[in-house]
Amino acid sequence: MDDLSQKARNILKANDQGGYTVPHAKIYPFQWNWDSAFCALGWMTFDEPRAWQELHMLFKGQWPSGKLPHIVFHQDAETYFPGPDWWHVDHMPKTSGITQPPLVASMVLKMIKIAKDEKLAEENLKILFPKILAYHRWFHNFRDPEHTGVVACIHPWETGRDNAREWDPALEAIKTDHIPAYTRKDTHFVDQAERPTDLDYDRYVALIMYLTSHQYDRSLYFEAPFRVADIGTNCILLRANKDLAELARRLGKTAIARELLHIIERQKRGIQKLLQGTHSGFFYSKNLVTRRRLRKPGAMAFIPFYAGLKGKTEGQAQINSFDQWAGQVRYMCPSLNPDSPDFEQTRYWSGPVWAVVNYLLIDGFNRAGFTDHAEKLKEDTLELFQNGFWEYYDPQTGQGLGGADFSWTAAVYLAMKTEL
Ligand code: GLC
Repeated sequence: MDDLSQKARNILKANDQGGYTVPHAKIYPFQWNWDSAFCALGWMTFDEPRAWQELHMLFKGQWPSGKLPHIVFHQDAETYFPGPDWWHVDHMPKTSGITQPPLVASMVLKMIKIAKDEKLAEENLKILFPKILAYHRWFHNFRDPEHTGVVACIHPWETGRDNAREWDPALEAIKTDHIPAYTRKDTHFVDQAERPTDLDYDRYVALIMYLTSHQYDRSLYFEAPFRVADIGTNCILLRANKDLAELARRLGKTAIARELLHIIERQKRGIQKLLQGTHSGFFYSKNLVTRRRLRKPGAMAFIPFYAGLKGKTEGQAQINSFDQWAGQVRYMCPSLNPDSPDFEQTRYWSGPVWAVVNYLLIDGFNRAGFTDHAEKLKEDTLELFQNGFWEYYDPQTGQGLGGADFSWTAAVYLAMKTEL
């Protein structure tokens, strides 16, 4: 085994809290939804029982409605804000009240494909399948009650890209004058210049206050002050539905597979109708409050390939942008268009490269037949890993940023090595 694989395994082991993996011991000392989906895949490459356990622990946080929260607070920890008390959720274990990109079905399908212990895989799939299905149904019922085929996110954290500059126009409407005093903890561990601004945080807190006071009701789809159709979440959910349909077929659940195919068709139509630019064929997120497109794309501009969607020009608009961005940064793919005046190469989701996003994009480029682009992205990502498994990376210098020895980054390396 190569040295880096050993290091990556050690990171997962060090961040193992007894059945679940924390993204980072200090900055994120709980179990996160989409992080754990990646971590399960990473574990699967060397400890299959532990990999399945990761997901069972995550689903302990699932609500009766089917929602899978973005954080499960299995135990107390002092180093993270906002902790369980801020969310006012009546559930054991304690959880947050919002969700995250629903990646879990797709990671489970990948896990099934690389499983050496097929019997164990089948047993676990049988337990997980109805829970994942309930999660997807929740997404469509609560976040697309009008059946447009496009789901809404009601907090930037739900998109997984907290301070993506895409959300700025939607966040301007958020009033912050009534928020209670609070103390950020992230900046104790990471340089402020690599994290969201204080204004961003005030808005995140204001939104939590709003959501808790409305008890995470279904009406939030119509009334929440922040409502965006994120291209990332929508494409991840579309792909996850396709992968879940494949899992359903494997289990002989044909009626459910048909239900999912119906949803998939609706999603395809909805995403193309609501999120695709009329002229360029490029896909954008949309502010559902103002119905305006959010035109500050980052790496997720290329995620439609991962969902099997190409633009009107068969993906050429996206490919042209990718090539243009690649001419401007040393390492692809930055989390914001490097041409944007807001581009900051070290600030979180406003410029840096995230290996987990690259992993999804590589899958998408390969699917769409853009294998050279997949190759370029893979080479860049593997080079970045030489600097350590960081939370994110400077797209110009390759320097690691945010948290060191980061779980999902290590997991993605193990997954990439297995698939190489
Ligand atoms: C940050 C990221 C989010 C991730 C979490 C834990 O909030 O924006 O995507 O899930 O950290 O790593």
